[in-house]
Amino acid sequence: MKFSHRINLLALSIAVFGLALLPVAAQVGAEHKTGQPWMNRGLSPDERASLVVKEMTLDEKISLLHGTGMAGLGPMSPLAVKSNGGAGYVVPIPRLGIPALQMSDAAYGVRNSGENGRYSTALPDDLAGAASWDLSAAYEYGALIARELRAQGYNMSLGGGINLTREPRNGRTFEYMGEDPVLAGKMVAQVMRGEQAQHVIGDIKHYALNDQESGRNAVNVNIDKRSMRESDLLAFEIAVRESDAGAVMCSYNRVNGDFACENKYLLTDVLKKDWAFRGFVLSDWQGTHSAAKASAAGLDHEEPAEIFYGDAMKKAVESGKVPIAEVDDHVHRILRSMFASGVIDDPSQKSVVDVQGGFEVAQKIEEQSAVLLRNENSQLPLDASKLATIAVIGAHSDVGMISGGGSAQVDPPGGNAIMPPGQGRTKWQDHVWFPTSPLKAIRAEAPHANVQFDPGTDPASAAALAKIADVAIVFAYQWESEGMDLDTLSLPDHQDDLIAKVAAANPHTIVVLETGSPVTMPWANQVSGILEAWYGGSRGAEAITRLLFGEVNPSAKLPITFPMSEADLPHPTVVKPPRESTTAGGDPDAWKKIAAGLSAFQITYDEGLKVGYKWYDAEKKQVLFPFGYGLSYTTYKYSDLTVTPGKSIHLSFTVANTGNHAGSEIAEVYAAMPEGTGEPPKRLVGWSKLKLDAGESKTVTIEVDPEYFSIFNVDKDAWQLVPGDYTLMVGGSSQSLPLKQSVNLK
Ligand code: BGC
Repeated sequence: MKFSHRINLLALSIAVFGLALLPVAAQVGAEHKTGQPWMNRGLSPDERASLVVKEMTLDEKISLLHGTGMAGLGPMSPLAVKSNGGAGYVVPIPRLGIPALQMSDAAYGVRNSGENGRYSTALPDDLAGAASWDLSAAYEYGALIARELRAQGYNMSLGGGINLTREPRNGRTFEYMGEDPVLAGKMVAQVMRGEQAQHVIGDIKHYALNDQESGRNAVNVNIDKRSMRESDLLAFEIAVRESDAGAVMCSYNRVNGDFACENKYLLTDVLKKDWAFRGFVLSDWQGTHSAAKASAAGLDHEEPAEIFYGDAMKKAVESGKVPIAEVDDHVHRILRSMFASGVIDDPSQKSVVDVQGGFEVAQKIEEQSAVLLRNENSQLPLDASKLATIAVIGAHSDVGMISGGGSAQVDPPGGNAIMPPGQGRTKWQDHVWFPTSPLKAIRAEAPHANVQFDPGTDPASAAALAKIADVAIVFAYQWESEGMDLDTLSLPDHQDDLIAKVAAANPHTIVVLETGSPVTMPWANQVSGILEAWYGGSRGAEAITRLLFGEVNPSAKLPITFPMSEADLPHPTVVKPPRESTTAGGDPDAWKKIAAGLSAFQITYDEGLKVGYKWYDAEKKQVLFPFGYGLSYTTYKYSDLTVTPGKSIHLSFTVANTGNHAGSEIAEVYAAMPEGTGEPPKRLVGWSKLKLDAGESKTVTIEVDPEYFSIFNVDKDAWQLVPGDYTLMVGGSSQSLPLKQSVNLK
């Protein structure tokens, strides 16, 4: 059994949120220049691509197979001067009406706008987006990024990160969608649909198993096929099948011996054949290591330069080492994606970014993404009229909120909020704070209160301020970035000590976390409130303040487990590369060594299927906050589950809002697999997000396709539904599932 593109897991969510998920419409019209029949919009993207390929010279074909270089990453082509300033530029073919590809990183907003003198909105980070569990919000996330890409002159996005969190210390955890393949896959699919509907090519990355940054260009990931198909690759599978994304970026690392970008199993057997992916595969920047081997394995395009896919590829074709049919297929796929996404019919045109519109979207998404983790004695929401003094402490909360670094970095307007004016240009791996000030937002929300600030650098002074306040709000941060992994999940800079001291001074202490990964919280039981804000984006402070003061009722749920300590993770430490698997900083020949392939070191994901909550469940490890968990200012009661097997498994249950606030509840459905399947105790198979007024009840129906109950049978190289008894469990978190029913599936 295969995961068909008809997968209809969330029929109800789609109905409830009224998603207008129309594919990029085939634009009919006979408007085409004489001699360019591929400009006929009435033809399919494949037909149009085939017509172009027939006309192309070998040189023109080769020109589409590679980028033109990137400063610091090896040789640059003189043609790169026409680049729009993004990470990738592929030359146009004016003779045939084929435009350039202008690619920009755009994980949570458009990158590099600072050095290009442009403006971009920073959305809450991708992990935050996943915490909304809201498919329509994910679509809007992608649509906003794509509108800003187009306004800045780009036509291809390099966002769409979907690597499952096997290692929460991975410095790119904030760029991904958490630890569950179904949640991550469905959310990224919507980001892609939102982007492509704006006529920007979407890209899903990093395929696959690039789950730590340490030694990423060298590491060989060892993993069995069943585990990767049912977890890491399943996320990509769902995203690819449900979005028709134009591109997939293969990752730096090796998987079971071969580099991901020359791995036939990943690129051809699974992605192109089994999942019927019709777009093109581009390498991560310097992730290409050969011409003939990579081409035969299914790599279509080299970035950022032309070390293998330029002259070397031409020679390989001329000498018969690479069949021209392979090159034609690569070119066809690139052109097909250009036609399918509309970048040829509706080219991007530079214009002014809608700054105000971006603020609204960023704020709305953060309001749906910040997770309320603790609320003792209903400390929250705060009532401004009852607070005389409020202490705002820590994490530069007078001026800004932190963002995630690396190629995802979005540049703040006016520069880094913690730098002196004029020195705020962002640099690789700077800690960049966005000018969204919690202190100002709280002052605006509580105009009659005396709102005072302490930077938190001296815990004694912060505690003294907390002591005289009615409530103390501590902002705490953990910065992370591409190119590094976290040593620990503890908050840096003695912030645990700061929080403990403030909490000891004031029983009404609330902690707002600005983190990219889960953190440990030795002080969790001493504070009365904890709100996980993630990297909150351009309007983080405004959104957080509205949540703290009850203008918005929290509804987000964790897309990732918060463990009690690192000792509970599947791997006690991040495996670091030996020296021979790295290049020295400043080595001018680094690019040659990387291209040649750094010597491999090994990671073995022997936890297998047990990713995230599946690990803690199976190993019976207590966690700090479980996957799927998140509080609200109201309470919900679940009842009346019925499960009816059929072509799909039909669930119906009732959710009642039993409290005094209107709210949105994410109702989660998990399945326990039959005994003997060797599966972890449960897996997420569906969810529905529903709005409920105080006192209101709704009946929820969810259809789950049997494919979501399947396991990957390696001997048959296929998905298989194992006949037996399945237990379906429904509730508000992976560890609070009050409704259960067994069903026999054949
Ligand atoms: C990152 C990619 C990014 C590319 C271009 C690489 O180092 O891994 O995610 O898209 O650079 O900036």
